[in-house]
Amino acid sequence: MLTETEKDLSASRPNRVDHDRIADLHFLGNYVRRLPVTMARMMENAHDWEHLPYVHASSFASIDLISRGPWGWRAKIGLPGGSDFQLVDLIIDETRHYWVSTVFSGMGTGTEIHTQATELSGDEIEVDVRFYLPEAPADKTVADFVLKYLIDQYRVLYDEDLGLMSGRQSALDYRTRRRAEQSEPSFILVGEDSELDRRVNHIIETKAGRFCVRWRRDEWIAHSAVCPHMLGPLEDAVPDEKGTIKCPWHGYRFDAATGRNLDGRCGGLTAAPRLWSRDGKLYLANGIE
Ligand code: FES
Ligand SMILES: [Fe+2]
Repeated sequence: MLTETEKDLSASRPNRVDHDRIADLHFLGNYVRRLPVTMARMMENAHDWEHLPYVHASSFASIDLISRGPWGWRAKIGLPGGSDFQLVDLIIDETRHYWVSTVFSGMGTGTEIHTQATELSGDEIEVDVRFYLPEAPADKTVADFVLKYLIDQYRVLYDEDLGLMSGRQSALDYRTRRRAEQSEPSFILVGEDSELDRRVNHIIETKAGRFCVRWRRDEWIAHSAVCPHMLGPLEDAVPDEKGTIKCPWHGYRFDAATGRNLDGRCGGLTAAPRLWSRDGKLYLANGIE
């Protein structure tokens, strides 16, 4: 929950990038990185406030959205350790592939991080992450220390984002390929029932998508391996004792057996094709009959 002061502060924030602002700020230094992803994935990632505490769990403990729009988002962020919060917004200039994230309350208030993304080729971009402070640090030692801290943090953040962006691109590419595929057999062999390892998840590609076949409560169940939110990978999600699986990208939860979404944050999982046992072999139907 926001305090009245936090609400007022949030309401006073502009929703567009002021490119002239940096003239009044102290430029501390920058971090430049090439990333093997498309601009579309990068811009999508800038808008994606929800992944912060999941994909970047070592940097952010929680996020509560205050507002969002085509302009970006504003949120209250919990820092690891539990008691510290920051109010942050990330304002996007879509046409220039430029975004500014500003801490406007909490530790580091006034810090602005301006990022310029540039397309190098169809599937490679470069980001120039520029760190600004409201005022110059007391001396060079402090300045070097803060800059190193920020660069180290951004290196980790981009390592983590790369996994998310590349994973999502592969999931999108896979979906396009699958839609183009025709005439497959009607059942796909999962394995010999007596030999199938019950401790692991078996991934089966079908015309209806990618599914996990797993042993749970003395029977085989199948559920989609793809999160319906943004195509996050569910194959490594381990069901808890209630059979709930959690997506690693934004934490949406699903009932593995029924596919129902348990947060009310998105629709359910793609319905799983039928499992079928015959002559000691387990099959998954190749699509929904
Ligand atoms: S992709 Fe967002 S919760 Fe799964
Ligand atoms: Fe991120």
